[in-house]
Amino acid sequence: MYLSKEEERIYEGEAGWVLEKAIKVVIKVGEAMGADRLIPISHAHISGVGYGNIGEAGLSLLRDLRDGGARFNVYTTANPGSVDDDSSYYFNYGTPFIQGQREILSIFKEMGVNAFTCTPYYYREPRAGEILAWAESNAVLIANSIYGARSNRESGLLALFEAILGKAYRAGLLVDENRKPQILVNIEARVRSIIDYGLVGLLVGEMVGERIPYVVGLKPQSHEEVKAFLAAAGSSGGMGLVMIDRLSPDAIGIEGSLNNIERISIDDKDLRRVSEDAICNEVDAALIGCPHASVELIEDLARLIVEKNVSATKPVWVFTSHHVYEELSRKGLIDLLISRGVKVFTGICGVISPLNTLGYRCIATPSAKAAFYLPRLARVRYVYMDLPGIVASMFK
Ligand code: F3S
Repeated sequence: MYLSKEEERIYEGEAGWVLEKAIKVVIKVGEAMGADRLIPISHAHISGVGYGNIGEAGLSLLRDLRDGGARFNVYTTANPGSVDDDSSYYFNYGTPFIQGQREILSIFKEMGVNAFTCTPYYYREPRAGEILAWAESNAVLIANSIYGARSNRESGLLALFEAILGKAYRAGLLVDENRKPQILVNIEARVRSIIDYGLVGLLVGEMVGERIPYVVGLKPQSHEEVKAFLAAAGSSGGMGLVMIDRLSPDAIGIEGSLNNIERISIDDKDLRRVSEDAICNEVDAALIGCPHASVELIEDLARLIVEKNVSATKPVWVFTSHHVYEELSRKGLIDLLISRGVKVFTGICGVISPLNTLGYRCIATPSAKAAFYLPRLARVRYVYMDLPGIVASMFK
């Protein structure tokens, strides 16, 4: 791989061991991916921030990096952890867990993280062609598939080193030749709600794996529908780009390249099969905001609550970013939701958290991504419920 004089200096350890380690990790992965050189990035996004994910081993690496003077060299955001100072009273996962999680967040802040959220695109909207180093699959898919930005689907650790270095390896989805559809998916199923969009996303991810799909037949009417679809596709699949017909910048003008690729379809039967995976009835709580809820989604919830003039009778959790929270606060909606018994949490994630240890067993959610991970990470069951369903059954 070609290295500039400055990169060679870093590689030789002349800029300290932290940068040396960072460049060596990025180069090693880059060489395996066939990269020709390193390329500056404008935004890094790190995943794997939860104490439950990275544990003491991850924390110890972060301590070493921090003590070695690690700082992010570029605008950097990171995924949410399980709890922060404000929420640990409510999600009390025990002192060792809370202390571990707080220390992780505090080290990331020291290194220069600007925000903890899985929706970094609400903080800094990606531009077409911009080079990013993002982990967190929903964010990568939105950046590539909707904004036409260029990011590989990095691991959390790699994005961490790329943030320190301020550069990524030039290969994979950063290179135009690699952004070509590999399989065409025809959506024949009737897709009518956010839950349906998520279910179709799960099916697409399951069927295409790491291949880049070209998806026809989807006609999303809102950002939330696209977000639900891509977040779910990124959960069950390993791809970093989904080309949505008439929507994705990369899907424009490439009809000719679709002739010789494999074709599959998804129909109503497939959709029913995957929705039948929902596996509980006695709901303990509702979880909204996986990925972190947008202004529009929370406004929809508030509107439904006001229309029905109801208050929550069971725990109803909304997870969002500080950015969205502040915007809604200015509109008076956060006070309204709180007065109706809704718990609004910022900068944390309920899905990667040990909810089972707090006695929760069954969670209602409109999010197929949450449904995918709740049994795996939070060790709880789930049932699909859209916002009107949640307001109808968990408010009075
Ligand atoms: Fe975000 Fe947690 Fe879902 S990080 S995408 S709310 S699993």
